[in-house]
Amino acid sequence: MKRFSTLRAATSKAATSRILPASLVWILLAMPLAADPLPQAGPKEGGADDVVELSAVAQLGRKMFFDPSLSNSGQLSCASCHSPTAAYGPPNDLAVQLGGPDMKHAGIRAAPSLRYLEHVPTFSIGPNPEMADNDPVPLDPGTPPATAVVPGKVSTVAKASLSRAARAAAEATVPQGGLDWDGRANTFQGQALGPLLDPNEMDNHSATEVLERLKRTAYADDLKKLFGANIFSQPELALDEALFALARFQAEEPSFHPYDSKYDAYLAGTAELSAAEQRGLELFDDPLKGNCSSCHIDQPSRDGIFRPAFTDYQFEALGAPRNRELPANRDLDFHDLGLCGPMRKDYTSVAAYCGLFKTPTLRNVATRKVFFHNGVFRTLDQVMHFYVERETNPSKWYPKLPNGEVDRYDDLPPQYRGNVDTIDAPYDRKFGQAPALNDAEIADIITFLSTLTDGYRPDRPSANAMPNH
Ligand code: HEC
Ligand code: HEC
Repeated sequence: MKRFSTLRAATSKAATSRILPASLVWILLAMPLAADPLPQAGPKEGGADDVVELSAVAQLGRKMFFDPSLSNSGQLSCASCHSPTAAYGPPNDLAVQLGGPDMKHAGIRAAPSLRYLEHVPTFSIGPNPEMADNDPVPLDPGTPPATAVVPGKVSTVAKASLSRAARAAAEATVPQGGLDWDGRANTFQGQALGPLLDPNEMDNHSATEVLERLKRTAYADDLKKLFGANIFSQPELALDEALFALARFQAEEPSFHPYDSKYDAYLAGTAELSAAEQRGLELFDDPLKGNCSSCHIDQPSRDGIFRPAFTDYQFEALGAPRNRELPANRDLDFHDLGLCGPMRKDYTSVAAYCGLFKTPTLRNVATRKVFFHNGVFRTLDQVMHFYVERETNPSKWYPKLPNGEVDRYDDLPPQYRGNVDTIDAPYDRKFGQAPALNDAEIADIITFLSTLTDGYRPDRPSANAMPNH
């Protein structure tokens, strides 16, 4: 964890019902896969291949998810950017996906995987008893904040010496949770309207237009059967039900949460890590080396209910280099500041939140072809070298200014550059020092990351790859 986290409710039902988008609660409670305790998390023959009867609403959602006729171009479905053959992430190596009326409009952010979103807590700032991570319990979560602490500024090592009041103050400023890189959507339903209306994506000009398209689909009758013959005469309700169907599909369909990576098998005691994977895991956990697990949590939740999500759902500014390939970035005044905008509108004036993005899961990360919110990195090797060399060798990552100085954290306006975390390993080393990880250690961590790829077959350990590849 980068800062401090929280107590969680002790009982599964209480915890589950409070961390989920409300309308999904009962579904997940009824879903043995998501709610099962860990010991049953052993490897299977590939979750994606399991035949599970989806509810009628989820089946409708599946039709919508794969239907390009819901887009203005007629060519783009949810699955175009979130492909089941790529862990519901992008099926190509574009930094950002194309869409819009002519399929030539580029967005500003890399498309995330839609796997393992079932325990994302709703967006909040400060202590959150709903967090499903396993960070240490704060000493006194009830203490009111004494001083403001800039998010991202409390070192994992330094925190041990902080006073209770300072801990509580740090805790009080931690933004966490929500869907999208900036956490702006709290439910799958609310999220889905985003891509349906985004002019760079499915490009409907209004919710009414979405409904018009739905009415013309072959499955319009399903909507009437499920929600009443008059459903289309109540546009708001019809839209709600349709978005709910998309949410149900993502919640029920097992291939969104197979939990069948080698690492899951290892935790269940049915697989052993290779020597390199084991070394990688140790470096991943070591607070002075990779320190990765402080944010990308690799242990089940303390009560054993949730398997590791490889994120603590918290926000952090890592200072990713500006991606000059993105059309939006041709405008030198354009900056994607994450939590403080421009996609999100409610924190645009909170300078301390500018440049912060939500920590993504690392499950299936080895199958991705672009990394970070702006897709600036192309390989895990680059990501890892960036982590450890950002401070020790900044000119490798950022361009030079006319005066010869390195334009460090060049994707952020100067006034926000102080938000970038320089305190925690692995980016706590100073200019000219040896990086926190050498090349052999980086290789071990990358080997470990490949154990997070779903579809592990114990009988074919070398085929540690996506089931659909
Ligand atoms: C043109 C590509 C594209 C299409 C089409 C698209 N998405 Fe996305 N999706 C993205 C991008 C990019 C993001 C990240 C957005 C952000 O952070 O602002 C995203 C984020 C998400 C998230 C949040 C994931 C997370 O980690 O928080 C969900 C859920 C999602 N999309 C579902 C859908 C659904 C459902 C559809 C169809 C209605 C859809 N998407 C269509 C590109 C796309
Ligand atoms: C202080 C919290 C923190 C620590 C420590 C940390 N990460 Fe991250 N990680 C993040 C955040 C936040 C992002 C997204 C940053 C962005 O897009 O701007 C990220 C992104 C990534 C990505 C890209 C994922 C994707 O889908 O694009 C990888 C891979 C990754 N981290 C691996 C690691 C590894 C390996 C370590 C240890 C060497 C590590 N991280 C340490 C918070 C952290």
